[in-house]
Order: sequence, then C-alpha cells, then structure tokens
Amino acid sequence: DLTSPRICGLPLKYVSLVTLAVQNAALSIVMHYSRVSTPPSLSYSPASAVLLNELLKGSISFVIALARTREVVDISWRRMSLWQILCSLPYPGSTPFWTLCGEIFSPDCWKLSIPAILYVVQNSLQFVAISNLPVASFQVTYQMKILTTAAFSVALLRRKLSSTKWLSLFFLAIGVGIVQIQTSSGSAPKNQSVGSAHDSAPLHIHVMSPLKGFGAVTAACFTSGLAGVYFEMVLKNSKADLWVRNVQLSLFSLIPALLPILYSSTPSSAGFVQGLFRNFGMWAWATVAIQVFGGLVTAIVIKYSDNILKGFATSLSIVLSFLASVILFDFRITPSFVIGASTVLCATWMYNQPPGKEPLVSIVLNGQ
Ligand code: C5P
Repeated sequence: DLTSPRICGLPLKYVSLVTLAVQNAALSIVMHYSRVSTPPSLSYSPASAVLLNELLKGSISFVIALARTREVVDISWRRMSLWQILCSLPYPGSTPFWTLCGEIFSPDCWKLSIPAILYVVQNSLQFVAISNLPVASFQVTYQMKILTTAAFSVALLRRKLSSTKWLSLFFLAIGVGIVQIQTSSGSAPKNQSVGSAHDSAPLHIHVMSPLKGFGAVTAACFTSGLAGVYFEMVLKNSKADLWVRNVQLSLFSLIPALLPILYSSTPSSAGFVQGLFRNFGMWAWATVAIQVFGGLVTAIVIKYSDNILKGFATSLSIVLSFLASVILFDFRITPSFVIGASTVLCATWMYNQPPGKEPLVSIVLNGQ
C-alpha cells in the first residue's frame, strides 16, 4: 500500500523483514565465533554483553524518542544529515526533554518490568546455547519459539488458532526433534567449532555440551514467547510511543542485567568498568552491536508489520546461517539435518499462510 513508510522507495515493512533475517543469521554466527574462538579463561563475560546491549539500545531509543518530539512540530529535518539532526535535538532541561522524561516515568511504566526481566534472561540463555551448539542446530531449535509464542498468545491474548496453524506447529516440533537427535547422537558436526580449514586463525578447542545447549535454547524459547506476547499486550493496550516503551524496557532491564555483574565481581579486583570490559575484543563488540541493531529492528518490525512476518524473517535466517556455517565452520550436511531443517522451514511457511490460502493438506483436514 502507498501510505506505508518507505526507505529508498521500498516499503519499510519488507526492508525491516529482510534486515531482521540477515541480522538473525549474522548474530548467531558472530556470537558463536566470539565464544568459541578463545579459551574460556580469556573469553568475555556474557553478563557484560547483556548489560552493554541494554545500555546502548536504551540510549539509541532515547535519542530516537527525543527526535520524534521535534518531528511533530518540524519535519524539515528529513533533508538533514545525521549529525545535523543530533545537533538540533532538544537539549537536556528543555521543555520537550522534560515532557519525554515524564512520558518515560509514567505511572504505567512498571508494566515493562516483566518483559524486561524475561528478555535479560533470554539474552543470557542465548549465550549458553550458542556456546554449546553448532550455529545451524541452534537456529533450527530456536524456531520452537513459534510454538511457545502461539501457546502464550492463546493463553494470554485469547487468540484462536486454525487447525492449519496447529498442524504446522506439530510439524515444527517434529522437525526440531530430528535436528536435535542428530546433533546429540554424536554424528553431528560436534567438532565444527574446533577449527576449520577455511579459517585463517584456527579456533581453540572448545568442548560443547549439546544437552546443556538444548536445555538453554528450550528455556530461551519460553522466555521469548512470554516476553513477546507480554510486550505486545502492553503496546496494544496503550497509546505510548514504541520508542518510549523501548526506553522503559531497557531501564527495567538494567536491574537484572547488573545483578550478576555485581554478584560476581570481587571488591579487590580491578575497577568496575575495567572488570566489565575484561577480554572485550573485536568479536565481543561485534556481537553487542549486532544485538543492539537486532533489538531496534525487532521494534520496527513489531510496529510496521507483525509477528507473522517476524516468523518469516527468522525462518529465512536459518537458510542464511546454514549456508554461512558450511562455508565458515565446515558444517557437514547430514541427511537428517536437511530433513529436520526442511520440515521446520515448511512448517514455518505453512504457519504463515493467510486464511483462505492454506495448503491442500489442511483444506482436506478442515473438510472444506
Ligand atoms: O527472538 P525474539 O524475537 O524473542 O527476540 C527478541 C530480541 O529482541 C531480544 O533479544 C530482545 O532483547 C530484543 N527486543 C528489544 N526491544 C523490543 C523487543 C525485543 O530489544 N521492543
């Protein structure tokens, strides 16, 4: 439709969808490499990465929210450079600045505390999962979040699902099961993170524990589903700006994100900031940057399209990260991986079919 926002002439809806797919694939690869490329004693703290992610995402969302307060009165800055826009933002202490702060600390801001805690738990679990599973297996198993999102939507939002959607969820579970069996049975590319002929710098021996990885990814699917549905509930039941909600989300995330850092740091050790950035190399920063970018794109996808398109983006990212794993990590293609991954992709496609355009199998099932 012509009224939807566009970027370089293309609908923002589709631009954000493709961007999210590429971001998803890039995140799992870069995050995996950042964890397995150094011995555990020299690797960065995931808790620091989670905290930095929230700090950066919250700050960027605040700047966007601030820019939007001016957009209402002056839209001429569409022709301005990013630097000019930053320089002309309402200064701290000005009326629009205080108005925005008032919006952020509105009486209903506490509602964001629940998804905030859940997202921090999810982001931390993601590190455990990615350190213990091959990239492609992580991506496929993470598709189970479609199942948890559907379950929480039915339970909390009282949404009704057609039999096609339930059937596709069943196939999804089977597909994930096939990938899981082959990964944990030992025939899997368990040693794919040990090193590859294609790597210029060989990776260090990193022992992966698939069971721990699957446990973490399953728990992450639950928090993802619940947090997503809860965030949707908060967004749709109020008129507050999405970027204001994002700032509130990041603010509440700071408490659970700070706790493990404060708990683990010894008083005699180096300063807090030094401890936070210990072993924080290029790959750790790249992981945080891609995560921050992903959080912002997720917000745009939720605003300009919907969760159905978000599901599409994730399934597309499976193919991308799978191909990248073959090239970068020497991931071996096994028949069971192909069968499992294809089942997951078909199930995702089937789940996303609009009513009336459902595949033949479900039309037969529905008796139409
Ligand atoms: O995979 P899923 O869609 O559940 O992942 C959501 C990710 O996006 C989480 O890492 C979460 O921190 C982030 N997010 C965000 N801002 C939102 C919604 C999600 O940063 N408004």
